[in-house]
Amino acid sequence: MSARLFSFVAGDSGAWRIVELRAIVGATLAPAARLEVVNAPLEHAVQAWVLRGVTSNERYVRHDERRQLVDRQPVLGRAQATCATLIPIRKSDAWWGLSQDERRRIFEERSRHIETGMRYLPAVARRLHHCRDLGTPEPFDFLTWFEYAPADVGNFDRLLRELRDSEEWAFVEREVEIRLAR
Ligand code: HEM
Repeated sequence: MSARLFSFVAGDSGAWRIVELRAIVGATLAPAARLEVVNAPLEHAVQAWVLRGVTSNERYVRHDERRQLVDRQPVLGRAQATCATLIPIRKSDAWWGLSQDERRRIFEERSRHIETGMRYLPAVARRLHHCRDLGTPEPFDFLTWFEYAPADVGNFDRLLRELRDSEEWAFVEREVEIRLAR
């Protein structure tokens, strides 16, 4: 589990400078100056807040979609990708009460999440972390992490608008957007 565990630690230190932190829906998070992404057991004291999640198996991706994603998605940590955004998301009980096939229908057949996201590859690199898999009460269900070059900020903004206009986002009850630079 620990290799898959990522902690996002906000405070006075960290590789990433917090440029902007704002709630999109629901309660916000405390302001902080910097953020560190830690892929190891946490040793330093938490300063402002810490969010934890684990990478996991895919739930919705189909075989053909997986092939296209593997072909196009870039790795994290590219030298030119000096912008990042962390978006913690919590979905409603109504979402979690749906069956797996109903969720897939909303996520892809009706909201086109993968098809939309794919148009922004390889500009945007991403990693999805699941919080419910930790088995402890967590404030969010997902921690989504994106990296891109300054020239792609406008594209990333457009991607967010497209996804937030979709039916899937009607099930988002808490979302905070944390813009970062290094
Ligand atoms: C960069 C383009 C993007 C691509 C290619 C992409 C692709 C995907 C894929 C393939 C999954 C499904 C993983 C699975 O099968 O379990 C997924 C899930 C998810 N994505 Fe994206 N995505 C992108 C951008 C975004 C953005 C900008 C956000 C947030 C604003 C976001 C939020 C999420 C969330 C919360 C999930 C989990 C949904 C759930 O399990 O209910 N994605 N994404």
